[in-house]
Amino acid sequence: MKTLIKNGTVITAEITRKADILVEDEFIRRIDEYIEDDEATIVDASGLLVLPGGVDPHVHLELPMAGTISADDHYTGGKAAAFGGTTTMIDFVSQEPVILAENIARHRAMADPKASIDYSLHMNITHFDDQVAEELLDLPQMGITSMKVFTAYNGRLRLDDGSIFKVMRIGGKNNLLTMVHAENGDVIDILVAEALAAGNTAPIHHALTRPAWGEVEASLRAAALAAQADSPLYLVHMNVAGEVDQLAYARKHGILAMGETCPQYLFFTEDDLRRPDGAKWVCSPPMRKAADQQGLWQALENGTIQVLATDHCPFFYNGRQPIVYEGREVAIPGKELGEKDFTLIPNGLPGIADRLPVFWTHAVNTGRISPNRFVELTATNPARIFGLYPKKGTLAEGSDADIALWDPEKELDYGLAWAHHRTDYNLYEGWKLRGYPVKVFLRGTLIVDDQNWLGKAGGGRFVHRQAGEIL
Ligand code: URP
Ligand code: ZN
Ligand code: ZN
Repeated sequence: MKTLIKNGTVITAEITRKADILVEDEFIRRIDEYIEDDEATIVDASGLLVLPGGVDPHVHLELPMAGTISADDHYTGGKAAAFGGTTTMIDFVSQEPVILAENIARHRAMADPKASIDYSLHMNITHFDDQVAEELLDLPQMGITSMKVFTAYNGRLRLDDGSIFKVMRIGGKNNLLTMVHAENGDVIDILVAEALAAGNTAPIHHALTRPAWGEVEASLRAAALAAQADSPLYLVHMNVAGEVDQLAYARKHGILAMGETCPQYLFFTEDDLRRPDGAKWVCSPPMRKAADQQGLWQALENGTIQVLATDHCPFFYNGRQPIVYEGREVAIPGKELGEKDFTLIPNGLPGIADRLPVFWTHAVNTGRISPNRFVELTATNPARIFGLYPKKGTLAEGSDADIALWDPEKELDYGLAWAHHRTDYNLYEGWKLRGYPVKVFLRGTLIVDDQNWLGKAGGGRFVHRQAGEIL
């Protein structure tokens, strides 16, 4: 099967050029100024930009949390991703008390039949001992080259600093990247108990009990541990300007530290948590202040932060009220679980469909970020850091034909109906956007054609990752 994408403007992290792209089966065969091929189906991309499919390295699908489960699975989440121009995502395996290989096998048994775009996995390390230390060495042969550890969620997910140091030391010696969720779990627990005792149960107290300084301190702690362990480090969901300062400090001192932020931290503040429907914005870490947004934007512009991910972890706002999804009523308990107590609100937001179109409108159309830097932040850098490049994250001969045809002039009133997340709200409801994918190919197969979904469960594949690069 051959497809010839003609007359488009190809955008990669490095270049912008008018070129045709010949796709054969699952791969990009040729990119050239002018290509003819009588056997190929022609797709006219005149007036369109040709981007590599987005790579979102931070999503949580079917994640059990707070007595419920995140509302997208590998089918619905992949479908939403594809509508927004993303064709690869990386989910997290929870560490249950069995061997890591079994955790991974279970996760894959859940995800593989549903996957509608390509995906890979990070391994959460939330319990560490000598046996886990041994098992970490097996991760690369299972296609997993990154681990996430937490300095918060005491008694549940948190690892003590010594264990984080040991995980990092193993990572440093074995090409495994350690990702750190950096908050101060001890301070959070004290402030949460005090807030509840004082009757402060509204969503804003989610942010007020997780102070920004805890993240500043924990991100520098993570960087210092990485330095001592001779390990690379990736700070997830950075949301505080002071964290950016710590990352810049670490990088200046030669520490192999990298970081990501997410759109919600660029566009919302803790004031959104004060709204009557503030539970919609509850995620960890929380929204911050305007000055933090500025720090994050600057870090995206100047290269201190390498990746724009989503931390997509959607819940219903009102899980008592079903929505209609693909003709069937669906209701999944969600944010209403915490209507009397912010600590019971499941943490997380929808975002995988929103990332590219919202960021394009506010970053590229405003001139803050070039189209090439847009591709770098949302596809190429995540692919390189997480060992998917050049199979994913770029347009090059031999790469997977994961392609988004992007109409830079397409205007829309964005929201729930466009996003296709399996939830009942969208954070960007009513936002005016300009720039949107009109056709999306996954390994050469057209899976989104305007607003038509052509993909299917099982159409996506697990991608076995290599060791990543340090950027
Ligand atoms: O609120 C969030 N982000 N939920 C997902 C878990 C995490 O820590 O990334
Ligand atoms: Zn996290
Ligand atoms: Zn997350």
